[in-house]
Amino acid sequence: MKKRYFLGTIAVAAATLAAGTALAQDNNKFKIGLIIPMTGQQASTGRQIEAAARLYMAQNGDTVAGKKIELIVKDDVATPDVTKRLAQELVVNEKINVMAGFGVTPAALAAAPIATQSKTPLVVMAAATSSITEASPYVVRTSFTLPQASVAMADWAPKNGIKKVVTLVSDYGPGIDAERYFKDRLLFNGGQVVESLRVPLRSPDFAPFLQKVRDIKPDALFVFVPSGAGAAVMKQFLERGMDKAGIKLIGTGDLTDDDQLNDMGDGALGVVTSHHYSAFHPSPMNKKFVEAFEKANKGMRPNFMAVGGYDGMRVIYEALRATKGQGGGEALLAAMKGQIFESPRGPMFIDAQTRDVVHNMYLRKVERKNGQLYNVEFDVIKDMKDPGKSK
Ligand code: PHB
Repeated sequence: MKKRYFLGTIAVAAATLAAGTALAQDNNKFKIGLIIPMTGQQASTGRQIEAAARLYMAQNGDTVAGKKIELIVKDDVATPDVTKRLAQELVVNEKINVMAGFGVTPAALAAAPIATQSKTPLVVMAAATSSITEASPYVVRTSFTLPQASVAMADWAPKNGIKKVVTLVSDYGPGIDAERYFKDRLLFNGGQVVESLRVPLRSPDFAPFLQKVRDIKPDALFVFVPSGAGAAVMKQFLERGMDKAGIKLIGTGDLTDDDQLNDMGDGALGVVTSHHYSAFHPSPMNKKFVEAFEKANKGMRPNFMAVGGYDGMRVIYEALRATKGQGGGEALLAAMKGQIFESPRGPMFIDAQTRDVVHNMYLRKVERKNGQLYNVEFDVIKDMKDPGKSK
């Protein structure tokens, strides 16, 4: 009896010790919960972001201000219910210091209240509806916004003979932003959107919509579809001979996504889009980034999702460094606001008031370079804030 009691005491003591050690180790850790779609329709976004986050860590080390960075990757299949549950679990069980990722707007919006309640910074690396930063004071964005890209395109188009336009967007947050900001700005610039078409986000069939566009015969079709869906639009546009019928294809850079562009074929040549990132961006930093990314990922070309992930890691690392490893949520957030740095996309900063990204918007045309298709930049609007915030 006595012996048993004794052994029990030792067991408890050992367990306490183990827990204590675990706690000490945990205190030395800095955990980033990366919630991204790794399967399903948006899987390429998750693949790109994870690869970029791992590249950033490989290049910059996994220890910052004495803390060991731990990246915990979770697949939310771009489904907001799943995102919410994962965010809750990561905050409660894993005690993550920062949550990041968010492949689509509904996922970011589902996690935002959890960020607020737990005072955990939420770094949006992909989703791009303007209003996301307003869903929680803990949101910081390193991707882009659809009003930025759409306004840039609506400024370029009428100066280049495109006056009468039909818009075609995915029927949810970013698509609605793209439709609205493109339309208003085009009208302001003397052009006109003659028809606005919305296609369902899940398993879209573009055929009937494209047929309608063909009948209307505008100067151009302006498209927003999320990363991963561009190739299908391009294919059906060309199959219908719409380019030959004199309808130009324009859009935000999601359409000529670097993840898919090289497989789209010569039909994509000449398509003009507006965006914040091209793998062909001619800066020394980007050249190094693309080379390292391709080398680490069997030749996979980084797209704008990868850059959002890479820059998001930068913002997190520097916030941890600035707070000397001591930062709780509030301090980390404060150290994220106002960060200014060079990204593979070009210069960027996090607006301290809105916590949103400010960066260049480039006009690009698809060209063949070194035997591959790229978005080649030919004009730039510098340091663009999110037009969605100026209302
Ligand atoms: C979004 O859901 O906010 C989103 C997703 C993919 C994009 C752009 C925006 O390419």
